[in-house]
Parts: sequence; C-alpha cells; structure tokens
Amino acid sequence: MNQIKNKFLLNPDMTYLNHGSFGACPKPVFEDYQNWQKKLEFHPAHFLTETLYKTLYESRRSLSEFVGCDEDEIIFFQNPTTAVTNIIHNLNVKHNDEILMTNHEYGALVRAWLVWAKKSGAKIVQQEISTPVSTEEKFMDDFWKGVTSRTKVIFISQITSSTGLIFPIASIIKMAKEKGILTIVDGAHVPAHIPLDIHKLGCDFYAGACHKWLCGPKGASFLFVKKEHQDWIKPLIVSWGNSGDDPGPSEFLTEFNWQGTRDMSSFLAIPAAIKFYVDEIKSHQETCRNIIQTVYYDFQNVLKTDPISTGGNWLGQMVSHPLPKRTPKNFKKKLWDDTKIEIPIFTWNETQFIRISIQVYNSQKDVDFLMSALRSYF
Ligand SMILES: Cc1ncc(COP(=O)(O)O)c(C=O)c1O
Repeated sequence: MNQIKNKFLLNPDMTYLNHGSFGACPKPVFEDYQNWQKKLEFHPAHFLTETLYKTLYESRRSLSEFVGCDEDEIIFFQNPTTAVTNIIHNLNVKHNDEILMTNHEYGALVRAWLVWAKKSGAKIVQQEISTPVSTEEKFMDDFWKGVTSRTKVIFISQITSSTGLIFPIASIIKMAKEKGILTIVDGAHVPAHIPLDIHKLGCDFYAGACHKWLCGPKGASFLFVKKEHQDWIKPLIVSWGNSGDDPGPSEFLTEFNWQGTRDMSSFLAIPAAIKFYVDEIKSHQETCRNIIQTVYYDFQNVLKTDPISTGGNWLGQMVSHPLPKRTPKNFKKKLWDDTKIEIPIFTWNETQFIRISIQVYNSQKDVDFLMSALRSYF
C-alpha cells in the first residue's frame, strides 16, 4: 500500500498523520484541477458562460451517484462552513426555538450557530454525549434528552472532528422526522471515509467535504438540499441567478451556481477525485481501519489514559485519544521539531487530545514511529 505515497504531493520527509484536517490531494487529481484552470484561462468568456455549466452538471452527476442523492439536489461550496452557514441563515425561527446539537460538534460551526442565535433569538442546546461512548442505545438516550417541544432543528456530525467518532445518526434522523424536526448533518469527514447514502439516511440537509477523505483539491465541498426545501433555501450571495447565462436546470441550481466570478475548478475536479478513490484507495481502506483498531489500544498502553469510546464501530480511519494531564502546552511543536510527525493535538472538553488519521499513504511503520516517539515522552 505504501508505494502509493509517491502519487501524493506530500513532503516525503515528514510523517503525515493528519489527513483528517485538510485531506491531501493526489497528483493526478491535482493535475485535473489545474487543467480546468488552464481551460478557463484559454478562453475565459466561453468557459465561464458555456463550458462551465455542462461540466458542473457532470460533477454534480458523478458526486450525487457517489453520495446517494439526485444530481439536482447538490450545490457546490468552497467548504462545509459556507455550506452549513447558508442553511443557518435561511432558517425561520421564533424566539426561544431550539437548535439541538451534541457537545462534539465542530467548533467553528458551533460559533456560526451561536452568532446567528444572538440575532435570531433561537437557543442553541449542546447536549452532552457522555464518554466513553459505548452503545447506540446509550448514545440515543443521551442525545434525545435534549429534545423538547421547542426543538426545531437537529444539527449533528456523522463523524465528529475533535473526537473522531462515527455517530449512528440514522435513528436520530428517523425520530426527528416523526417529530417534524429538521435535520442538518455535518458530514465533512464522511465522503470516501465511510459509505454514504443520503437518500437512505433521509435527512433534510447534508454538508460534505470533498477535499478530506475523497482527496479532491481544497475548495471542493457540497450541500445536499432535499427537494421539498429547495424553494426556501436561497444563496446568501445573490447574483445574476435566473437572469444570467446559466440555462437551468432548476431555479434552485441557477440561483446557486453563479455567485459572481470565481474559480470553480475544484468543483470540476471532483469526478477525477472519485476515480482516484475507486481505483487507488477503496481497496486499501480495510487495512487503514484495521490499523486504527490497533492504534486504539496502543494509545491506551502508551499514554495510560482512558479512551473516549469502546472502539469497534465508533471508529473509521481516525482515533482521538486524551493525552496525560502532564502533557506540556507546546507538545505539538516539540513532537514536530524532534520527529517531523504532523499530527493534531488540541483541547476538547478541557483535556488535551491527540488525533491520528490513517489514509492509504500511511503504514504500520508510521504508527510504530509515532508510538516510539510518544513512549520517549510519557
Ligand atoms: C466535523 C467538521 N465539520 C466541519 C468542518 C469545517 O470545515 P471547513 O473549515 O473546511 O469549512 C470540519 C473541518 O475539519 C469538520 O471536521
């Protein structure tokens, strides 16, 4: 699996254990991305008024097939933050209506909700999911305690950022639907990490990143909007929309496609990323997941701290683990300076955590190197 490392642009002198944060783009996908940029500059006016719409359609078609929805239910965004923010600012809530989320949500998006709540008068409820997370029943019990008659929206990650956990969200979506609560899923880490079928999940909105586990170029993310909501979800950036060059295919897509002149090459490179994933990554994912299952125990043995889950199905290609209390504040820098290991170290719930990602270009050797480094400090 390791020869594949030279198909990536990553600096070979470092040990990169941080795929989860920003992904990493393989050479053929990056070339495809740059080719779109060259095509644009070869004949800018023709590209932006003619070619673009056909190729955006192709990207939407191939991505929708990959994530399990219809082509006309997908709009592209630079990143999940802009995608989710677009939904947040379209919501029509009354004073004290509640938005329910877990205490594991991505910090920047929690902030986006809180800033909006100040203006809208909505209440943000961050329900505690107790750790170690163990069974789906316990998880559901913890979460559902946060639902009240005022809950209007549930916002939940399918794979969490800091804690690196796969949340079993299907039952939450099902119960929310029965109660008439809207569901917005933060799936930033999901595409090409675990199987995704948005229609089967049945959520109202789903935001995903294509630059993380799908290995697309930066700036490639999407938002799924269920058809029944497409008449009230409007772009925050209003441009030519229906009065512009885009011939369709629906008012919803036309309103979103053109948001002023911008480089959409990252969106257009998504089919190349899907091809690379299918040809080069997919068959190695089980090996990656198996490595993570052993790292789950390695962390406990080396760091002597308690895990935040019972492992198994809670984990995909990431595992996050608490560092000992005595870990110095500058530990990330020290680890980098001493070993050139790139791995995120951050505070969650007032505790320092380390989160490892295993992607196709990693191997057991990388893990052994990290563990021997950690052993030398702790
Ligand atoms: C769970 C989750 N949601 C949302 C995001 C937002 O990503 P961005 O900052 O690219 O918008 C991230 C980024 O890592 C994430 O992990």
